[in-house]
Amino acid sequence: MTNDLNQYFYEIIHVFLYSISNHRPMTIGILKETQKGEKRVSISPKIAKAFIDKGFNVIVEEGAGKSSKYDNSDYREVGARVEKRGAVYKECEVLIKINPFDEDGLKLVDDHHILICQLFHKSNPELVKDIAARGATVLSLDALPRITRAQDMDVLSSQNNLAGYKAVIKGAYEMTKIFPLMMTAAGTITPSRVLIYGVGVAGLQAIATAKRLGAIVEATDIRLETKEQTESLGAKFITVENEGEASEKGYAKAASEDYARKQREAVNKSLFQADLVITTAMVPGRKSPILITTEQVDQMKNGAVIIDLAAAQGGNCELSKMNKTVIRNGVKIIGTTIAPESVATNASDLYAQNMFNFISYLTEDNAFKWDLEDEITDETLIVYKGEIRKT
Ligand code: NAI
Repeated sequence: MTNDLNQYFYEIIHVFLYSISNHRPMTIGILKETQKGEKRVSISPKIAKAFIDKGFNVIVEEGAGKSSKYDNSDYREVGARVEKRGAVYKECEVLIKINPFDEDGLKLVDDHHILICQLFHKSNPELVKDIAARGATVLSLDALPRITRAQDMDVLSSQNNLAGYKAVIKGAYEMTKIFPLMMTAAGTITPSRVLIYGVGVAGLQAIATAKRLGAIVEATDIRLETKEQTESLGAKFITVENEGEASEKGYAKAASEDYARKQREAVNKSLFQADLVITTAMVPGRKSPILITTEQVDQMKNGAVIIDLAAAQGGNCELSKMNKTVIRNGVKIIGTTIAPESVATNASDLYAQNMFNFISYLTEDNAFKWDLEDEITDETLIVYKGEIRKT
């Protein structure tokens, strides 16, 4: 009997010790974004609930969802705690953000933290060093490989998709014309002409949106495989013959001067007739290519609008200035990223779902697997316990 009792207590203590060592639910912290103008939140109440249902604890910084129209009470209702910033850093192992961690936040980071955000590590080497110096771990979602398996985690795609939509809406607002053909008693209004450079994620959504609004849409891309995608949306593709391989792993390579000249020749007629031009052309890891020169702008229609979504990487139009509107001979050139914060609720929902898919993929039984043989883990793990893995 005594032996049975001893065994019983032994087992209870064992289960207790096991539970606090290995199976203590991991606590995820959702931090408020501090970057100027940012309105998104990394995790929506719906996804906070999904994490809780999976066995994680969730703590949200006070007011984190406010600009995305999610109140503290929305998070409390699904079982998350709402705390001040200091408590979130102190109590959570995993800290989630959209933008890179700022200086004040970093001061609170230590070696028990796993940070997950879009770090843009290649452009932020000092930040990477600071995180490493604190012994922390950081996973960066913008470093995801663009492979089929990672599609549902791809924040760049989910956010660029919204940017493509919003670029057209912004263009419509800035134009002095409407998009569709309209027959009225006072006469017929001809449809606007829209030209899109770059048929990636943003470009495709821009084509679809402009078509839905009734414009005549044309598009061009250095990757000829985008012709079919353009045409399937009912737009016309402007083909520029390229002398060889234009893409690598599905991404554009930098174009030659010869290609740029041929492109100008092929596109000029459409450019000079266009009411709205949206440029989205980017080459990973490089400055964005200049596709519209000042000389070309000078031949565009008075009242035409260029929305340059590549402005943060230097711009596709020679005259673009980031976050500025330049007017030349009546042509408005708007340099922007149309950061998805302008559609914060949808952008937050999609980012949160991507984040949930990412964390679910990397963890098992509430613990990170750290499988470095796996391409997704390997590419996104920028710093592991203070050791810099990617530069
Ligand atoms: P991106 O943002 O890097 O570039 C936008 C577009 O600009 C691209 O289509 C590119 O070919 C084009 N471009 C670059 N230089 C140009 C030039 N000189 N003239 C004309 N066009 C030029 O591209 P994004 O949106 O990130 O997508 C790139 C590819 O990756 C697409 O095929 C997309 O479907 C694929 N993708 C795959 C994913 C996955 O499998 N997980 C996720 C996201 C995208």
